[in-house]
Amino acid sequence: MSDFTSNFWSVFVAGITIVSILGCLVLLWISGTTKAMTASGDNTTGHVWDVDLREMNNPLPRWWVWMFIITVLFSLAYLALFPGLGAFKGMLGWSSTGQFDQEVQAGNDKIAPMYAQFAGMSIPQLSKDDKAMAVGDRLFMNNCAQCHGSDAKGGPSYPNLTSGEWNWGGTPEKIVETITDGRMGVMPPQAAVVGTAEDVSNVANYVLGLSNAQHDAAKAAKGKEKFEAICSACHGMDGKGNQLLGSRDLAGKNWFLGPRNEEHVAAMVNNGWMGQMPTWKDKFTPEQIRVLAAYVWKKGGVASSSAAAADGPSIVNENGVVKFYFASGSAQVAPGAQEALVDVVKAVQGGKRAAVSGYHDASGDAAQNAELAKQRALAVAEALKAAGVPEASIDLSKPDQTLADGTPAEARRVEVTLE
Ligand code: HEC
Ligand code: HEC
Repeated sequence: MSDFTSNFWSVFVAGITIVSILGCLVLLWISGTTKAMTASGDNTTGHVWDVDLREMNNPLPRWWVWMFIITVLFSLAYLALFPGLGAFKGMLGWSSTGQFDQEVQAGNDKIAPMYAQFAGMSIPQLSKDDKAMAVGDRLFMNNCAQCHGSDAKGGPSYPNLTSGEWNWGGTPEKIVETITDGRMGVMPPQAAVVGTAEDVSNVANYVLGLSNAQHDAAKAAKGKEKFEAICSACHGMDGKGNQLLGSRDLAGKNWFLGPRNEEHVAAMVNNGWMGQMPTWKDKFTPEQIRVLAAYVWKKGGVASSSAAAADGPSIVNENGVVKFYFASGSAQVAPGAQEALVDVVKAVQGGKRAAVSGYHDASGDAAQNAELAKQRALAVAEALKAAGVPEASIDLSKPDQTLADGTPAEARRVEVTLE
């Protein structure tokens, strides 16, 4: 893109440049052909210093003249090839940003083989890999430590990444998302909506009560109503925050914009705040981001919601599909099956049927895998019955062989869907 908004300045600058270069040649020509007037005709200029030091009027040395001409030719050739004449981009099409992009590309090509070895690994696996963590440490120290601290514990205005409490989510997926696209936390000023300074003070005391910080219980009781009417929109009725907005768990202790006291909360309500975590997708390759995410995740991350990464058994409800994940070699259903199946039970009571389908991968002994998958599906069917689904409403299907996403945990799952 050109910095010139109209053609005029481009032509103007280019004109001055060319005229100056030609001017140099004219100067050379003039000084080479005109003779200084001398009174004595002895080839001196007539200038005398220190009694007898005279200035001769000899022609310029040949080598110097040639150097001068070569310099002029060089500048003309340079201006023809590279950007320099106004908005003219040069015949080679070179640009500093283009060169930068090329260098970044070359750098990425060079490190690609190193990252290739991490390609098939999940973030929890990466976090256990010493080589990946050494790379992650270097990336973090060079790019993140200036804001989050070399121990990742943050500081005023920058979140602590090791506390286990997350504003934007601490699963591998969410951390990757945070690093890739950056985050923008916006709390608008709301004094006007809350009311008088006393109202603000009451709300502040209510907020402080949520995390058991020092507060005035009587004021807090008065502040509850306003909190639920106004603040809950972003922080939730229980004040536990909303990770889609990065709005902070006010009942938690991982605040980073100020101390948990009335002055800070009132300042937040009166002035608001906008915090920004920069975007890194332009600087890092997706592989680098995964390694960084693993490094951060290791410091205080939580298990993936899809449980694809976790090694223990777990149950996840994904858009109405209840997924049971099993530990390797085990058909033990994770705790919490009753609660996880509440919606399924309701739907079955409403006339739907529950389909149970298992998955297993192609690695190892196929017969043994298939048997284990069957045991798991049966265990889930038992859990359904225990939750109150009659056997007649359960459809058991033969396990599918899958390499789902390439993650081993995905292959150790049984899904309950409604039909
Ligand atoms: C429109 C959404 C929204 C509303 C409404 C809102 N907040 Fe916030 N609040 C946020 C966000 C987002 C942050 C985090 C800002 C950041 O990290 O940059 C935040 C941060 C805070 C913090 C800072 C915690 C820390 O780390 O220091 C306090 C305190 C707070 N809010 C209190 C309140 C109170 C009290 C109300 C009601 C009067 C309220 N908020 C209403 C979005 C909201
Ligand atoms: C210029 C300062 C700055 C740099 C550099 C920076 N961050 Fe951040 N980061 C922030 C701020 C500010 C927030 C909080 C945003 C908000 O919610 O207001 C944040 C938030 C985060 C979060 C979300 C924390 C949570 O509770 O959900 C993660 C994860 C994170 N940063 C990781 C990184 C990594 C990894 C790097 C290096 C690649 C990095 N940051 C570099 C300023 C920075």
